[in-house]
Amino acid sequence: MYDQMYDQVTKLRRLVREKDKVKVKLNNMRVIAVSSGKGGVGKTNLVVNLALALAEHKYKIIILDGDLGLANVDVAFGVIPDYNIRHLITGQKKIEDILYPVARGVTIFPGASGISELANLDRGQLENVLVNMGRLENMADILLIDTGAGLGHTVLNFISASDDVIVVLTPEPPAMTDAYGLIKAIKNMQTKVNVNVVVNMVENELEAQQTYERLEQAVKRFLGLPINLLGWIYKDPLVNRSVLNQKPVGFTNSRSPAYKCIQGIASNIMRNYLQTPAVNKGIRGFISSLLRIT
Ligand SMILES: Nc1ncnc2c1ncn2[C@@H]1O[C@H](COP(=O)(O)OP(=O)(O)O)[C@@H](O)[C@H]1O
Ligand SMILES: [Mg+2]
Repeated sequence: MYDQMYDQVTKLRRLVREKDKVKVKLNNMRVIAVSSGKGGVGKTNLVVNLALALAEHKYKIIILDGDLGLANVDVAFGVIPDYNIRHLITGQKKIEDILYPVARGVTIFPGASGISELANLDRGQLENVLVNMGRLENMADILLIDTGAGLGHTVLNFISASDDVIVVLTPEPPAMTDAYGLIKAIKNMQTKVNVNVVVNMVENELEAQQTYERLEQAVKRFLGLPINLLGWIYKDPLVNRSVLNQKPVGFTNSRSPAYKCIQGIASNIMRNYLQTPAVNKGIRGFISSLLRIT
């Protein structure tokens, strides 16, 4: 009798768990930029682990490493891809040759210094990049971009071309000021991008809430822009260790406090905005906006 009941309960639990993991079919590839005003707040850590967390739900993710110069994402996974976007621009390689799989459902699109060249393509190069990047649509559900920090052209172009942006900040005052500055720049671009916020390196939930509320108050009052708290991530020494080992914490310590928080952020993304239509029409909107073709 008890055995039977026990069986039922475990079966139910399994069903619920499986139901949780059923992914929502997306019509268009969703483009999500991860950005910050200040550097060193944890963008790259969030990007690589968020990709792993979304892949647990069977989403296919391509990570575009858009941080100029620094090959952040490659380093986080401890890999050295042979080619990057520059080889695409010059026509030496196809998109399929450049993409670098790093985990089940997760692939890197190495950008590196080639990213800055996207702004100055001639007609032939433009067509080539368009055709190649257009093929991404059938390869993944989500394009996740590590944009790098600050208010430079590349960062802002990536954000305005995306469907959603996640602004990362920490509780320290300079990170708050710089996050506000970034959101102001986003507002000034008059894009339709959804602005979401993640507070990283917090000691507890209260600290996360208070940090977010301070930012939200200023944004509401002076910018009148709606923003949304997507989640927070605990300060966790296992993250530092994973960075040193060049393996994402989601690989090595999937039960760590920081990764659990990131799994929560992945659930929020699926619940919140993956259900709503993409404002910039996914990858096609992204490419034409990025390359300024209207
Ligand atoms: N939740 C966290 N807990 C502890 N350390 C963190 C956390 N998130 C990031 N870090 C550390 O902060 C540093 C910067 O993180 P990184 O992801 O490279 O930031 P960014 O890409 O914004 O420059 C890294 O050394 C990383 O180990
Ligand atoms: Mg980084």
